[in-house]
Amino acid sequence: MLISMKEAYAYAEQNECGLAAVNTPFFELLLAAIDVGEETNTPIILSFAQSHEKYVGIDEIGPAMVTLAERSSAPFVVHVDHGEDIDYIARGLDMGFNSCMIDGSLLPFEDNVEVTSRVVQMAHERGVAVEGEIGAMSGNENGDPSQGLADASLYTTPEEAAEFVRRTGVDSLAASFGTVHGLYRQKPNLDYGLIAELRNAAGVPLVMHGGSGLSIKEYRETIKQGVRKVNYYTYAAKAALEAVRPLAADDETFVFSDLAARAREAVREDIFAFSAALNQTLAR
Ligand code: 13P
Repeated sequence: MLISMKEAYAYAEQNECGLAAVNTPFFELLLAAIDVGEETNTPIILSFAQSHEKYVGIDEIGPAMVTLAERSSAPFVVHVDHGEDIDYIARGLDMGFNSCMIDGSLLPFEDNVEVTSRVVQMAHERGVAVEGEIGAMSGNENGDPSQGLADASLYTTPEEAAEFVRRTGVDSLAASFGTVHGLYRQKPNLDYGLIAELRNAAGVPLVMHGGSGLSIKEYRETIKQGVRKVNYYTYAAKAALEAVRPLAADDETFVFSDLAARAREAVREDIFAFSAALNQTLAR
């Protein structure tokens, strides 16, 4: 079933846990995320990032995301991730996505405020929650390992977080405090004190991008400090690749379908472990 992002955040607050937000730019990953949602019966955010258009179009996989979420007995949100412009986000909402992010983090502050405010107005008219981003992160959403080093000079400051939320009206905030998109080239160095300050200053749930590749302890501590949604893609896609390598090299493998089935299973195991890490309540 589809639940709103507001309901998903209420669940996360109540249970002191993080929401697993999984990018699904290939079908086996989408099916695996649905499998995990149904197995655990906890909310999962099915996300599609605009930069993943190079793999598959939102027009192609988006309707499948919405339909599979709607017909499932488990709770799902379907989310436009890293929307780069208002028209793209509106396209997602038109096809049934019920949550969105506008990523103006690379723009100058005032321009980010302007484009984010316009998306908030458009989305709120449709009853859809908006995530904004302030502060930049290195790496990208395509798993590119070339830049996987966190740069503390790009971390979000509590002052800009507070002003950004106040002026735009976003419902949640993606901020920079030590994670990177893509593969880590060095151990992540998360600034937990900064997360707590950002949560206080922003007054809305925090979103951790670059959320794959962390330890259970790191997930738990970030959640304790105020993160309520964790974005996850690169390490799930990597798990799929590693699982199919031996099969692909095996002369007894005759059809691609065998690789696809193996990838789905490997990703299911990977996302299950990730979801379990986020769903251990802090009290336990
Ligand atoms: P990873 O690259 O760490 O999986 O992060 C994905 C992400 O943040 C998408 O928004």
